[in-house]
Amino acid sequence: MKPATSWMIALIGGALLTGAALANPFGMKAVDGWNAAEIAVLSSMRLSELAPAPVDPSNGHESSQAAVSLGQRIFFDRRFSGNSAVSCASCHQPDRQFQDGRPLGIGMGTGARRTMPVVGAGYSPFLFWDGRKDSLWSQALGPLEDPAEHGGNRLAYAHALKAHYRADYEAVFGPLPDLAGLPKEASPLGTPGQRTAWNSMRDDARREVSRVFANMGKALAAYQKTLQFRPSRMDRYVDGVIRRDETASQLLGPSEKSGLRIFIGKGQCITCHSGPLLTDQHFHNTGIAPRTAGQPDPGRRAALAKVMNDEFNCLGSFSSARPEQCEELRFLAQDDHAMEASFKTPSLRNVALRAPYMHAGQVPSLDAVVRHYARAPVAAAGHSELKPFALSEQEVRDLVAFLGALTGDAEAAPR
Ligand code: HEC
Ligand code: HEC
Repeated sequence: MKPATSWMIALIGGALLTGAALANPFGMKAVDGWNAAEIAVLSSMRLSELAPAPVDPSNGHESSQAAVSLGQRIFFDRRFSGNSAVSCASCHQPDRQFQDGRPLGIGMGTGARRTMPVVGAGYSPFLFWDGRKDSLWSQALGPLEDPAEHGGNRLAYAHALKAHYRADYEAVFGPLPDLAGLPKEASPLGTPGQRTAWNSMRDDARREVSRVFANMGKALAAYQKTLQFRPSRMDRYVDGVIRRDETASQLLGPSEKSGLRIFIGKGQCITCHSGPLLTDQHFHNTGIAPRTAGQPDPGRRAALAKVMNDEFNCLGSFSSARPEQCEELRFLAQDDHAMEASFKTPSLRNVALRAPYMHAGQVPSLDAVVRHYARAPVAAAGHSELKPFALSEQEVRDLVAFLGALTGDAEAAPR
């Protein structure tokens, strides 16, 4: 078949399919009475509409299978911490949607924000609740040197890689540098002792150690990018609605369907929780009260300078990208006041399995989340984008029930 012909057949086929689903030319009754515009929205929420995660040009190793398996082993290895007791999996637990069910993450100390699930994070141009990192590999370096999380330092990690993973590391990234003669511990961000040790090292040794550290992040990113969501009942229901399969109607109960109508209708949830991951990947102020009254978290506003000045960002010397490939960073709006107390819209997939909610676990249940949106309180800092809307007690239950239908299984499927 000539390319032009196959292209035309695909186009006509697509038009027929869309016609059948949306305009209903054959007079078949739409399942549960959804109209064409609603079906178009429902269709956009399906997991099957999810494109492969965008390639990260700043990580030249993310598609290497050897990097994936090295990253997976590091993710679960507690030796990469200040007390040999913390791994990424201490907080990102595979049997809990890769989070921990706590209001605040606990490693060597207690952090200031809630642990985020990592499945789907490869779709995010900016990482963390405030987006202060611009890649999955650069993100991973944060907890490793955070005193409240892994509490370690980059030189100790380089020694540990050499002791336990030398062959695997070198197969992906090439020879490890000669670490003989270097102190045991050193980092520009560590304790005063570690900082003094870092400052006493030669420039080239510091660069080599930071490169090993960056590569550790690249392996962790390669692994995390393989984690995928599995379809939920909502996905199977919408697939059935699109096929005009009457039996699909039973996949959601009446209360869940009413909740879905509110989600895409008067609740306006879909404006931010959009697309197959149910997030627009943007930052919004939704007026969630800070954990401690009088101590507002500036969120996205304070993260802009951090991501621009990060030595491990897309434009930095440890990035595999050419500068023109770092579009997110080059076109970042600076000093945007709408960013005050804004946080990243989280995915709602599997959300019912991971209370408490919001960036510092402030909201204990989905019931309380839904009531927050209907009430739309004035924000303690910045301006909330929400507008209040009326919900009956039954409608609160309906929206909560619908959020429960977004549950599927997370699994570490190889690509
Ligand atoms: C002590 C608990 C803890 C440990 C250990 C930990 N994390 Fe996290 N993780 C968190 C918290 C809390 C956040 C959100 C922090 C914030 O926004 O400031 C987070 C955020 C993330 C995100 C961002 C997800 C997104 O959608 O933006 C990723 C990815 C991630 N962690 C991966 C890792 C990796 C990889 C490791 C190991 C190197 C790790 N984490 C170790 C608690 C932890
Ligand atoms: C203006 C954008 C916006 C709208 C509209 C919106 N959300 Fe959100 N949603 C967010 C942001 C941003 C967060 C995280 C806020 C935070 O942590 O401070 C969030 C968090 C959540 C969470 C908690 C998830 C978690 O893992 O902590 C749930 C559940 C949720 N939203 C459901 C809804 C529902 C239901 C609606 C409609 C009634 C809705 N959202 C409307 C932006 C929005």
